[in-house]
Amino acid sequence: MATSLTLNTPLDMHLHLRDEAMLKLVAPLTAQTFSGALVMPNLVPPVTTFEALKAYEQRILDAASYEDFKPYMTLFFQQYDKAFLEKVKEHIIGIKLYPAGITTNSETGVSSIDSETLRPTLEAMSDLGIPLCVHGETNGFVMDREKEFMPIYESLAQNFPKLKIIMEHITTKDAVELLDKYENLYATITVQHLLITLDDVAGGMLQPHLFCKPIAKRYEDRDALVKVALNAHPKVMFGSDSAPHPKHKKEACGCAAGVFTAPIALQILAGLFETHGKLDNLQAFISDNALNIYGITPPKKEITLVKEPFLVPENYSGEGEMVVPMYAGQTLSWSLA
Ligand code: NCD
Ligand code: ZN
Repeated sequence: MATSLTLNTPLDMHLHLRDEAMLKLVAPLTAQTFSGALVMPNLVPPVTTFEALKAYEQRILDAASYEDFKPYMTLFFQQYDKAFLEKVKEHIIGIKLYPAGITTNSETGVSSIDSETLRPTLEAMSDLGIPLCVHGETNGFVMDREKEFMPIYESLAQNFPKLKIIMEHITTKDAVELLDKYENLYATITVQHLLITLDDVAGGMLQPHLFCKPIAKRYEDRDALVKVALNAHPKVMFGSDSAPHPKHKKEACGCAAGVFTAPIALQILAGLFETHGKLDNLQAFISDNALNIYGITPPKKEITLVKEPFLVPENYSGEGEMVVPMYAGQTLSWSLA
């Protein structure tokens, strides 16, 4: 039985770092263990200009306090012209599309995701090799939102066959099945969606720290996600969607959506992959697949995990902020060496 495990250049391909005090609190928690992370642009206001992008990147580097950490920057999707995209291309890893109002800070997202309306921008992205990251939910019934989005993914994949499309934080077996149907579709999977179902969120007393968008689904959905992750399907990458909100905004009437997992993700994944006898596949899920899909060369970093109990802190605090991690106060079976 494995008692230690070394991962090379771990990557988190979907991460919310926020800004100001929260950025200063959470950035080092990711930079400590990850070589790089794809940083989401849903600030207020969202990141849509070259100046905002570069300034945010610098604030992240200043906050991260680890030199072997690279933030991979994204722009918030809107109609951009090709000249602008040519200019920013070297500075971004992708552009994130949010349906308007579907999740935290997405009010200025796209109100109707129609291939023809979006064609100028998507064609330019396709020509320039800029991937499209998508929050794939409709505004239908909450459990059906991702499933209802599948025809939109299909239409995008068919209309822009050279555009790399990443289905972010997939939560359903429908999304898993779509992966193999189109060459240009990829996916990220979070920690929480590999572990929990809606039962864990709302089956007993309501668990605000497990509430996120998309909401955790059924057992058969979780099983399908676990299967592709454990087998390190080459089109699937780890993306934590670690989404910190201040404690008072989670433990509140009108709980903000987002699960904070940055400091516990690797430990949890080691436990999950070990339980299923698939530890050998964790390297591909946590890094190699993303290297291939995005064609990136992050800073080298080796992270060793050991099979020793890790008591998850009740909260992480500093800079006047306090954030509660998933599994606060619980003991995990793996820790950082
Ligand atoms: C994210 C956030 O808080 O920014 N929330 C979430 O529940 N996942 C946004 C997102 O990725 O949907
Ligand atoms: Zn997210």
